[in-house]
Order: sequence, then structure tokens, then C-alpha cells
Amino acid sequence: MIIGIGSDLIDITRVAKVIERHGERFLDRIFTVAERAKAERRAKNEKMVVATYAKRFAAKEACSKALGTGIRRGVWWRDMGVVNLPGGRPTMQLTGGALARLQALTPEGFEARIDVSITDDWPLAQAFVIISAVPLAKS
Ligand SMILES: CC(C)(COP(=O)(O)OP(=O)(O)OC[C@H]1O[C@@H](n2cnc3c(N)ncnc32)[C@H](O)[C@@H]1OP(=O)(O)O)[C@@H](O)C(=O)NCCC(=O)NCCS
Repeated sequence: MIIGIGSDLIDITRVAKVIERHGERFLDRIFTVAERAKAERRAKNEKMVVATYAKRFAAKEACSKALGTGIRRGVWWRDMGVVNLPGGRPTMQLTGGALARLQALTPEGFEARIDVSITDDWPLAQAFVIISAVPLAKS
């Protein structure tokens, strides 16, 4: 069953301006090591790098909406990280306050599943996040 849904749409050029102005400090505060590695692997194409960051920024905002909090109440940027599964499909790994909120939303006897879809078409990037509760397999 679905326990949360969130979406976000962002202007990639806005993210580019923040990176230009705040550089490392911004990247470090917002993105996980895995997200930064993914963007850096695209370093040959500056537009692709910033679009990679923008899609992940949108995913964090969408995830914070799916959690029902927004970016507050202990739910911070770096605690919601996009990871790509083998084959490329994205999902999110939550830590810290975001994970605590996810656990509080998940009914007993269920585990949370996070489905993510991200896309970009310059100058826009978009993300959808659906959080579902899936019954735990009986052992
Ligand atoms: C929830 C949040 C992510 C919304 O993002 P936003 O970019 O300001 O606004 P969006 O247009 O994407 O989304 C707005 C919609 O989110 C929904 N929303 C607001 N609070 C929400 C919550 N707690 N849970 C789920 N959805 C929420 C509302 O429907 C709202 O639209 P409405 O007011 O017309 O009903 C935002 O409140 C937030 O926490 N932003 C962090 C901003 C920030 O710190 N920026 C610094 C950049 S480094």
C-alpha cells in the first residue's frame, strides 16, 4: 500500500547558479558521496553534471514531500540519497532523521519500499517519489 507520494520540478540553471556561488560547501551539504561520484563521472559534460545534481535535488524535495515533512523536522538533504541499482533504476537510501521518519510511517509487519523516477530536459529537472509499505515475508 502507498504511504507517501511526492513530486518536484526544478530549474537546472538555478542549481547551476548555486553551485557557481557556493561550490563545494553546497555540494557537500546537500549530496551524498554516491551522488557526487555519479555526477563527477559525467565531468566531461558540464551541463550533464549540473543536470545530474538537479535531478537528485528534485528527488530529495520529492522524497521530503512523500515523507510528509518537507526539508525540516530532522529530515535533511544528505539523509536522502539517490542510488542507482545495477541497470540504472534509481531508488533512495535514507539515513538519520529521514530514516527515522520513514520507520515511523511504516506500519508494524511491513517494510518500506521507495520508488523513484527522475528526468531532465534542459532547463528543467523533475522527480517523483512513491513510498509503499510491503508486508514482511513470514519466516
Ligand atoms: C516541502 C518543500 C520541499 C516544498 O518545496 P518548494 O520548492 O518550496 O515548493 P513546491 O512548489 O515544489 O511544492 C509546494 C507544494 O508542496 C506541498 N507540500 C508542502 N508542505 C508539504 C509537506 N510537509 N509534505 C508534503 N507536501 C508538502 C504543498 O502541496 C505545496 O503546494 P501548495 O502550498 O500550493 O499546496 C519545502 O517546503 C521545503 O522544505 N523546502 C526546502 C527549501 C530549502 O531549504 N531550500 C534551500 C536550498 S539550499
